[in-house]
Amino acid sequence: MAIKKRMLGLIGFVGAGALALGLAGCAGGDTDSGSDGDTGGEGDLVTVGFVAVGPEGGWRNANEQAIKDAFTQEAGFDLKYAPAASPTDQKSQIDAFATFVNDEVDVILLTATEASGWDDSLELAQEAEIPVILLDRGVDSSDDLYVTRIAPDNVNVAGAVGDWAVETFPEGANYFTLEGVPGLSVVNERNEGFEAAIAGADGWNKIGAQTANWTADEGKSVIETVLKENPDLQFVFAQNDEMGIGAAAAVTAAGLVPGTDVKIATIDGTTPALEALAAGDLSFVAQYNPFFGDLAVDAVNAALAGEEVEKNIIVPGENFDSPEAGQAAIDDGKGF
Ligand code: AHR
Repeated sequence: MAIKKRMLGLIGFVGAGALALGLAGCAGGDTDSGSDGDTGGEGDLVTVGFVAVGPEGGWRNANEQAIKDAFTQEAGFDLKYAPAASPTDQKSQIDAFATFVNDEVDVILLTATEASGWDDSLELAQEAEIPVILLDRGVDSSDDLYVTRIAPDNVNVAGAVGDWAVETFPEGANYFTLEGVPGLSVVNERNEGFEAAIAGADGWNKIGAQTANWTADEGKSVIETVLKENPDLQFVFAQNDEMGIGAAAAVTAAGLVPGTDVKIATIDGTTPALEALAAGDLSFVAQYNPFFGDLAVDAVNAALAGEEVEKNIIVPGENFDSPEAGQAAIDDGKGF
């Protein structure tokens, strides 16, 4: 019940957001990107500088591809993709951001590798009157410095994991949290949502938390160590699928049965996670919906047309809580 209530709240909010964006005007922009000129229609292309994370894992690949699929020349855009030198290299992002400002792109999309350290860049863009839209990751800077943030609600998504965990472990559990890369907004928001959801329940004992940097290898390595020191581990909250799949491998390597001896819940909803759920290796997968290219296009068009844009545009998702739900999600093409 609690999980369903959360989703209904989200959909209502998205409805309002979409309505505000639905009033968006057409694309603005006045620069010719020097493309092949075959724009297939009237007017110049809107140049979009995408300061991205780059190759990182299944969710990132799906999300960045969704942005590329939405910002096409046919749709009136010249998308300039700038992946970070590595998923934790903020300097390369700051450099790419400055280059986009210098090149006077029409709008900048930013998925930050760090939450802090963006004030100077955002102020530079504001002085140049270049709107900035955050995708997925938030930043610590004032929200006066960017148009909006488009992302699923990490607090709610992680809260759904906590709600499920409380229902699954009515007596509480000894648990461990595998965190994403330190310093990210989504890591803090997911901790906030999960911990708030279990706060009122009895018997919850946090063995610890540690980053596994979003990867399966590190997730396996961390949980191998945790199991050696805490054979009474019952539950792992993995903040993304890859770490959760790694944790399941560690449980198996320890001669235990994932889903029986140790339950694992993850966030993202990639196909490998849905397959692991269907196989019983994972017990709960909360979708962190990566498909918001159209919402980003609407926000860009609204920003360039001077329309009002919600400060936070929430992308809805769903949750998968059984092997049958995992298999059905795969059959219905909900993986990525
Ligand atoms: O910011 C979103 C997170 O980044 C995803 O949950 C994770 O898989 C990715 O690395």
